[in-house]
Amino acid sequence: MTDPKHIKPKAVSALSTGELEGKTALVTGGGGVIGPAYARALAESGAAVALVDIDAGKAQRAAKKLCLDGFKVQGWQADVGVKADIEAAVLDAQNVLGGIDILINNAGYATTMDFEDISEAEFDKVLNANLKGAFFVSQVCVPHMKEKGWGRIVNLTSTVSKIGPGDLPHYVATKTGVIGLTRSLARALGKHGITVNALAPGMVATEPIIALYPESALDNHAARRSIKRWEHAEDLVGPLTYYCSKHADFVTGQTMLVDGGQQFD
Ligand SMILES: NC(=O)c1ccc[n+]([C@@H]2O[C@H](COP(=O)([O-])OP(=O)(O)OC[C@H]3O[C@@H](n4cnc5c(N)ncnc54)[C@H](O)[C@@H]3O)[C@@H](O)[C@H]2O)c1
Repeated sequence: MTDPKHIKPKAVSALSTGELEGKTALVTGGGGVIGPAYARALAESGAAVALVDIDAGKAQRAAKKLCLDGFKVQGWQADVGVKADIEAAVLDAQNVLGGIDILINNAGYATTMDFEDISEAEFDKVLNANLKGAFFVSQVCVPHMKEKGWGRIVNLTSTVSKIGPGDLPHYVATKTGVIGLTRSLARALGKHGITVNALAPGMVATEPIIALYPESALDNHAARRSIKRWEHAEDLVGPLTYYCSKHADFVTGQTMLVDGGQQFD
């Protein structure tokens, strides 16, 4: 029998069938583990989806998988920390799929390290992927949203911003910055019909996380949750699609913690 803490839920979307018909979404870090789950849910509701990743192969493979399931998805290579890269990818995606109406700032990078050992180059890599990327990809995509008078931006932060683990100071700093950016952009863009919200997952049992940490680390998180099981990418699909759905038209500047009730705001 499956251990209850290992039960994997089904992804449930908050979007109705056809709700995103005629819209285009861009998911950064779309070649990673969780990004494709967001892309699938958005595509299932009719959106064309651009997957952007620093790793061209990962973006292409993830896009191909979704295309084979009948969705309109294409992959692009871009480092979100380099504005010229983003501009080129977004322009190309716009020509192929249409202007970006929904932006999921999901690209992320982290390495656990002692504070004293983090070099300037490593700090910049984390900053670029997690915060500078969210800032400039938004800046590049917003003109089209303004023109349409409608847009959705969802930024991926993390519950590390509340827990503050000592072995990830650079990651914690950038993910906490994402919450501030979300609030500021919500105020700046609300009058244009654009909502900006953030999603804060807890420790998600993805393959890289399972490879990086002992199983006991995931079990410890499960034990500290109100809902005592591992967290999965599927748990994030409902909250992410909620922000993109008509149910959340009046919700902006918020950060939703999705960690089974481990932390409370
Ligand atoms: N996995 C977790 O436990 C967890 C918890 C909280 C928050 N998050 C956040 O969720 C998001 C997705 O996480 P994941 O588990 O799928 O991670 P992942 O590492 O599987 O995917 C992240 C993707 O971002 C890409 N990327 C990294 N730097 C980039 C850059 N500069 N430009 C473009 N792409 C870049 C990577 O190539 C990778 O494909 C990240 O922002 C992460 O910080 C994850």
